[in-house]
Amino acid sequence: MSKRKLRNSIFTGITLLALTVGSTVGTMSRNVKAQETIAPYKNSKLPVEQRVEDLLSRMTMDEKIGQMVQPERTSVTAEDIKNYGIGSVLSGGGSLPTTGNKPTDWADMVDNFQSGALASRLGIPIIYGIDAVHGHNNVYGATIFPHNIGLGAADDLDLMKRIGSATAEEVRATGISYTFAPVLAAPQNIRWGRTYEGYSEDPQDTGKLGSALVEGLQGSPNDSDFLKGSHVVSSIKHFVGDGLTEGGDDQGNVTEYTDEQIKKFIKPYKEAIKAGARTVMVTYSSINGLKTHGDYHLITEVLKGELGFTGFVISDYNGPQQIVPNDFRESIKRSVNAGVDLFMIPNDWKRFITTTKELVSTGEVSQDRINDAVTRILRVKFENGLFETPYADRDLVKQGIGQPEHRAIAREAVRKSQVLLKNKNNILPLKKDGLNIFVAGKKADSMGYQAGGWTISWQGGSPQWMGQPEKNLIPGTTILQGIKQVSGPKTKVDFSNDGSGAEGHDVAVVVIGEPPYAEMFGDRDDLGLLQEDIDLLNKVKASGVPMIVLLQSGRPMIVTDQIKDWDAFVASWLPGSEGAGVADVLFGDYQFTGKLSFTWPMNMEQVNNHDKVHPLFQKGYGLRTNQTGQKSLSK
Ligand code: BGC
Repeated sequence: MSKRKLRNSIFTGITLLALTVGSTVGTMSRNVKAQETIAPYKNSKLPVEQRVEDLLSRMTMDEKIGQMVQPERTSVTAEDIKNYGIGSVLSGGGSLPTTGNKPTDWADMVDNFQSGALASRLGIPIIYGIDAVHGHNNVYGATIFPHNIGLGAADDLDLMKRIGSATAEEVRATGISYTFAPVLAAPQNIRWGRTYEGYSEDPQDTGKLGSALVEGLQGSPNDSDFLKGSHVVSSIKHFVGDGLTEGGDDQGNVTEYTDEQIKKFIKPYKEAIKAGARTVMVTYSSINGLKTHGDYHLITEVLKGELGFTGFVISDYNGPQQIVPNDFRESIKRSVNAGVDLFMIPNDWKRFITTTKELVSTGEVSQDRINDAVTRILRVKFENGLFETPYADRDLVKQGIGQPEHRAIAREAVRKSQVLLKNKNNILPLKKDGLNIFVAGKKADSMGYQAGGWTISWQGGSPQWMGQPEKNLIPGTTILQGIKQVSGPKTKVDFSNDGSGAEGHDVAVVVIGEPPYAEMFGDRDDLGLLQEDIDLLNKVKASGVPMIVLLQSGRPMIVTDQIKDWDAFVASWLPGSEGAGVADVLFGDYQFTGKLSFTWPMNMEQVNNHDKVHPLFQKGYGLRTNQTGQKSLSK
């Protein structure tokens, strides 16, 4: 027995003896053994705070710093986790197990990492994190829900909770208990490539919807299964100011908002923390030139102080290094001191460990700060039940993902997210009594397009990025397949990728939109329709067949010049795996109820000047099926 172990045993001996119910404490060696097996931190009956305190008291500085880092799965082994006492591992977008992309591949991979953690001196489990941002989107076969912008249009709190709990169950089915979701930005500039990750431009609506999702993911803080069983830990992100940057730049600088105005955007965090959110991810963006990863005021004084947040603060992926570019040491120093607890340093994690050790030894980072960080990380791990159930629940793994009940929730979300913006002569809903329908556009029959970014890969089924066949990226129902299913036996449905052959049909459903993208790859200066879509629209228009246009996009786009040609216009957003939800409202099985959660601009000047006075459609606009579409609320 090492000196430290012996000292710890003596230190905690009295309490431990009292806790050793039913154990016969006969000899010294048996005594020690009994004490070792029921160290307070391993005793699930003790309060979390007591367990944290006990465990912290046993840890060396090396072990503490190891807990503070989160490497990416590709740059770490189970052996590393054991040797360095690593606290957490992540899969970045599209970082899949080497053996395959089934729940068992994931659970086996995560369990293998976990076995390394449990073999470490104190056996502290890792917490494995992933971006399950619209369902468990990296995993083939998962239910893929509409991206958040669509859920903002649906505006249904009960639905949000059910989406959260279905997502959590699917995440757990892969042995993972931590998701980096939801985004709580209320984007003010739709040029931002992450606009679709926001529920609404209104921070109040964002707070409401985000908190409901958090409750679904984590369970209720008052219940015994909070964060446990089939629940997961949620990370609300990105604190704070993403969506407010100049020009909508991803990872950009916020200059046009006063401190007072920024407070409005802190509110969603406050609300979600009240609902139980246990981790907060810091934004890449800066406020007036100060990177938030190094912002002591925002992280320590506001988040941990004023907001009373007691969980852990996680950095974004290599986010701390942006504080002082090319000065790793200074960046880490400022970030630890600002209050970041867990460092998502995908590759350079060994350097993080040596650097932080050195910073502590020189006194540039205090031991108290390290203790605060580790206390918070351990607290969430205990709450997450990781010490009791570190490995995947194999029953859940067997149960699998993408089950019909979850897909039914996703389909409900799709139909509730559709926003009807124009409906000339009540062309919608379509009748099921023998119409001859023409569906046009490759985007009508593509899982990749309708799921958007963060699906299987980081960028989604974008041909430019992954060379993936976007059509069959994930299992599910495309919009075209949904139309065929829902329209009934009397309807005739023809399809054309490029819009040729529309002549002679009763009506055309034309699907246009953005290709998949994520993060900065979606930043745009111009939100006009793509030329390929304009060509498609013109071809169908030339046939004289009435047009119903579905726009599949991560944000409003500029359609002012084209909309006059359309009989109906629907904002479909990025519906995910259950395209039949679109058909449900087109054919009147359900009413259109979605409402815009973002202002729909008339032109790019309005976007660039944040001019929301006379938009094409105001926030909150959305027709019911039985309403004829006037062009705009404001005109
Ligand atoms: C994104 C985060 C995400 C992280 C891990 C970053 O690039 O900004 O939202 O959680 O990657 O994949």
